[in-house]
Amino acid sequence: MALVDIESFQGRLASLRDATLADIAAASDPATLDEVGVRVLGRKGELRSLMGGIGSLPAAERPRVGALANPVREAIEAALAERGAVLGSAALDRRLAEEAQDVTLPGRMPWVGGLHPIRETEAEIARILGQFGFVVVESPEVETDELNFEALNIPPDHPARDLWDTIYVADPASTQQAPHAPRWLLRTHTSPGQIRAMRAASPPIRILTPGRCYRYEAVDASHGFEFFQVEGLMIDERTSMGTLRGLLDALAHALFGAGRPTRFRPGYYPFTEPSVAFDIQCVVCDGTGCPACGRSGWMTILGAGMVHPVVLANGGIDPERYQGFAFGMGTDRITMLRYAIGDIRAFLANDLRFLERSRP
Ligand code: DAH
Repeated sequence: MALVDIESFQGRLASLRDATLADIAAASDPATLDEVGVRVLGRKGELRSLMGGIGSLPAAERPRVGALANPVREAIEAALAERGAVLGSAALDRRLAEEAQDVTLPGRMPWVGGLHPIRETEAEIARILGQFGFVVVESPEVETDELNFEALNIPPDHPARDLWDTIYVADPASTQQAPHAPRWLLRTHTSPGQIRAMRAASPPIRILTPGRCYRYEAVDASHGFEFFQVEGLMIDERTSMGTLRGLLDALAHALFGAGRPTRFRPGYYPFTEPSVAFDIQCVVCDGTGCPACGRSGWMTILGAGMVHPVVLANGGIDPERYQGFAFGMGTDRITMLRYAIGDIRAFLANDLRFLERSRP
């Protein structure tokens, strides 16, 4: 482009400046602003191409023309810088707002699990009786008829089997039931743990076998077909009903409060002789009589007795030399009494509102 004269050049410079300043003011983001800058001031930009004609001017006029262009360039550069600063800080502000973290919000508590109330009671019983030398051993839930019944002095067809509505299972090792193969069942109580302990160790023995038991029962607020027991067994050369009573009193007082009265009532179990029911004074009415204790003022929390000589012999222990006692309690029932839980089904319903109440 050849320059005709200085005035028209000046006019064109002014309109380039004005148009550019307007574009700069209108740019709404840094990228658009950059485009304006490159388009006007770049190496092949509009200002340069306007100045390209400077060579056709007489040499004496060139410096003047150059001097006219400089303020335009400077004005544009200043406007670009100023607008750039505004857009830059606006973009920053927007990002800051979008990516803001509210550090004043309280943190989210990590999820902490806890012991199931039944396991808590098992642990508490183990802790209390552990002080008397009892150790916890495991015993399987799938058991043989022999250990669940026969070795405990309950032969086939014995009427005492009616005490336990049993769930039998197929032989885990084969689908064929050989005539004399062991019959398998889900243990109806933790008492087979006694036989296993006697066969595994020699006296003195002080063990607890806690765990799940199963009975073919109609389920209601106080019966589950799946429930929990803790079995205890002590075998030694000098044990008595007195030792048993003292131990159970210590247990009851630790679980239900130091002053709580207890009593033995005569009971019947095939594997103990004599057998007793161990009662505590009702924890609901303190003995005055209420629906929870059948108006008797007492609640049975376990069965116990001196181990029957036949059971000792079945466990491989000489009944002439040793005797001992055993006891078995319902962990569900003890937990229900300790925490005033009204329905046994709550334990296995997996309702977190219930389970969380026993979290630490
Ligand atoms: N096994 C019995 C039951 O399930 C409870 C029991 C009673 C266990 C007397 C014992 C015992 O060890 O001596 O009903």
